Amino acid sequence: MPDPQKAVRLADYQPYTHCVDSVDLTFRLVPEATRVTARLTLRPNPERTGRNALRLDGEGLKLLSCTVDGKPVKPEIDAESLTIPAKSLPAGAFTLETVVEIAPDANTALEGLYMSKGMYCTQCEAEGFRKITYYPDRPDVMSRFRVRIESDLPVLLSNGNPVGRGKGQAEWDDPWPKPAYLFALVAGDLKAHSSTFVTVSGRKVDLNIWVRPGDEDRCAYAMDSLIRSMKWEEEVYGREYDLDVFNIVAVDDFNMGAMENKGLNVFNSRYVLASPETATDDDFARIEAIIAHEYFHNWTGNRITCRDWFQLCLKEGLTVFRDHQFSGDMRSAAVRRIEDVVALRARQFREDAGPLAHPVRPESFVEINNFYTATVYEKGAEVIGMLKTLVGDAGYKRALDLYFDRHDGDAATIEDWLQVFEDATGRDLSQFKLWYSQAGTPQLKVADDWKDGVYTLTFTQANPPTPGQPKKDPKVIPINVGLLNPNGDEVVPTIMLEMTRAKQSFRFEGLAARPIPSILRGFSAPVVLDRKGLAEERAFLLAHDTDPFNRWEAGRALAKDVLAEMALKGAPPPPAFLDAMASVVFDESLDPAFRALCLRLPGEDDLAQTIHAMGRIPDPAKIHAARREMAGALAIRLGDGLQRLYKDLDDSAPFSPSAEQAGRRALKMSALGLLTRRDGGKLAASAFARARSMTEEIGALSALLDVREGQAELAAFAARWRRDANVMDKWYGLQIMNAEPSEAAAVTTRLTETPAFDWKNPNRFRSVIGALAANHAGFHHQSGAGYRTVADWLIKLDPLNPQTAARVSTAFETWPRYDAARRKLARAELDRILAAPGLSGDLREMVERMIAAR
Ligand code: BES
Ligand code: ZN
Repeated sequence: MPDPQKAVRLADYQPYTHCVDSVDLTFRLVPEATRVTARLTLRPNPERTGRNALRLDGEGLKLLSCTVDGKPVKPEIDAESLTIPAKSLPAGAFTLETVVEIAPDANTALEGLYMSKGMYCTQCEAEGFRKITYYPDRPDVMSRFRVRIESDLPVLLSNGNPVGRGKGQAEWDDPWPKPAYLFALVAGDLKAHSSTFVTVSGRKVDLNIWVRPGDEDRCAYAMDSLIRSMKWEEEVYGREYDLDVFNIVAVDDFNMGAMENKGLNVFNSRYVLASPETATDDDFARIEAIIAHEYFHNWTGNRITCRDWFQLCLKEGLTVFRDHQFSGDMRSAAVRRIEDVVALRARQFREDAGPLAHPVRPESFVEINNFYTATVYEKGAEVIGMLKTLVGDAGYKRALDLYFDRHDGDAATIEDWLQVFEDATGRDLSQFKLWYSQAGTPQLKVADDWKDGVYTLTFTQANPPTPGQPKKDPKVIPINVGLLNPNGDEVVPTIMLEMTRAKQSFRFEGLAARPIPSILRGFSAPVVLDRKGLAEERAFLLAHDTDPFNRWEAGRALAKDVLAEMALKGAPPPPAFLDAMASVVFDESLDPAFRALCLRLPGEDDLAQTIHAMGRIPDPAKIHAARREMAGALAIRLGDGLQRLYKDLDDSAPFSPSAEQAGRRALKMSALGLLTRRDGGKLAASAFARARSMTEEIGALSALLDVREGQAELAAFAARWRRDANVMDKWYGLQIMNAEPSEAAAVTTRLTETPAFDWKNPNRFRSVIGALAANHAGFHHQSGAGYRTVADWLIKLDPLNPQTAARVSTAFETWPRYDAARRKLARAELDRILAAPGLSGDLREMVERMIAAR
């Protein structure tokens, strides 16, 4: 038996023993021996009693000296900390100075201070600062940081405002107290794409996006997104930027998407760099959203931070909610909402239904990095959306104003957050709080009844058991509902029904005829809606609903029903469904982006989830076959109309990443995909040759790969883009995601043998190993080769980069849903990972939680 892992518990929270009034850091940068001097002014925390020892976090540090008020002391040191006993400390305030040495060039975990292609950069959230120096590395310890960097590199950056630059050194001062996780340092030979922003109150801010030389001309879209974010934040939330400079740095080696360090955001280069030739429309949309997300953290995360990591959703859920609002305002709100719900179901519902399910605010964790999850982020954002629906727009605004007013400068909790809503609106939110503490996706059943001119909707909620939470209480569920007449007119426009009990009915009087209900409009709550066997109702809503989300949802539900039938019973695609799709796809009055979304069939993993929720065992091979058969049937049913559609969408206007053009391209690429099933690839090959954007290039290439063509195009693509790692990631991913299930593992292995497969780079690792996990029928292939290949690579990556290995391991989180033979194969791989010598705590926690399922 390995040692049981040490869990941290929310219930054990205690304020820190000391306050850190200021921090002075000096970095002498040397790749293999960087010297970090930290001078901390400390005093006992009045919230704690007695005289306490000083315990600082620190990992992998070589201590060179340690003084208290200038006198050397001998601290106790272990693998995780440095402790100075109370008796060696003065009674009041004192200054502690430590000097440590670290080796950024040997840091492959990409946490703390590390190197990426010759540049130094840092990643401290959640607990990486302790790999830089000894410090109370917890978010409720906030302090003023001053930083001096010594290096001959031309660009030396840290948080706050620049206060001194000389030969071989630079100094930065951050006037805003912050927790250590928001510290950042960057040094390198970088070039800036610069602009300025003048805030509402007239403060001029210098904006810079720092990139490697040669990439400056790919920053315009990110800069434009930043400026729009700053403006939106002022207009919608009344929040202004608070420093003289805002710097963004793009790095190629980064575990996550991006990081909101105060005044110095660090980004994975794939979420900054974009040009029409290199970035797809999805890339543009993602860049806009992530730039906004990290910028918005300046208020929700930085000015108001988290008391402890259990409160992570306080900043992440809220900031995701805000970046969704922003994207909705910048683009089509309806399209955005649909895309967000697709992602929510694919990632969060999947997590919530499996062994890794946990509450939006977890109550214990072993490795905090493992809790940056879809539940904390996406369900955390949904919970805020429900709050807003419940209290109304005006109530939400009052609550947010109060939140910023009351908690600016605080390290806050979910209790603080809910309290401002209670105080601003007078509502009691004690039942609502269950959304933060209970895991699992509620299942909402609906029945309706029409009698004597009264229409009644009856809802029943079930809250399924999740790990550690067998029994649950009913939740508050805001259900937005509209009613339509049989002729398609809306007789009751959207109203909010507030469900608070396990079973509850709502009556509608004064209707002339039995209405057709449109339930859960805008996806007003993150629940699974169970309204069975009403194909006509769905087809009607797909044709008539005035709520665009529910209109799409009706088609989606139909598609899922039909595909599940096909996979389970080998049924053919029903003509009525094909007709319904045709009428949407060719309806010129509808937004092309919306039509493209309707045409996109539910993914295979999503179908497996649906079939599993029906109480059946999903067969990945059959799901794959059903989905292909459906695509083939659609290609035939849509017929020559597809060609016309494709031609009509062929824009001659100059490229713009606008939502409007992106929508047209999305529909055009869907049409191309279907046309390719009929012509074997002729049109796609010429589309590839004539492509004027990466969206078209990738669209054509994937259409070809889908019909097992495109080898020449793949080679041409690689020849054109071999020097661009972000574009080549697409090349790797595409081949694996489109591979025949029986060959997916072999294709992956072949690609891992190419010289450009730099597996230590997280983007490349994810674009290859992550792509195999995303090929549902390939990963779950009955041979077990998919499981084995992913496990092999997790075992290989883990000693170098545990965080990325642990994240990719969620590929296995659905293993309990499959048949006994597959479960046995998957379980054997999970056991093999557990037995790997030197297994990291990160990966161990994930695998143990996944295994505990059975
Ligand atoms: N604070 C996170 C980045 C982070 C996550 C750092 C986990 C360390 C550990 C950042 O604000 C974030 O949420 N980034 C997301 C993208 C965002 C648009 C949801 C990411 O990196 O995936
Ligand atoms: Zn975030």
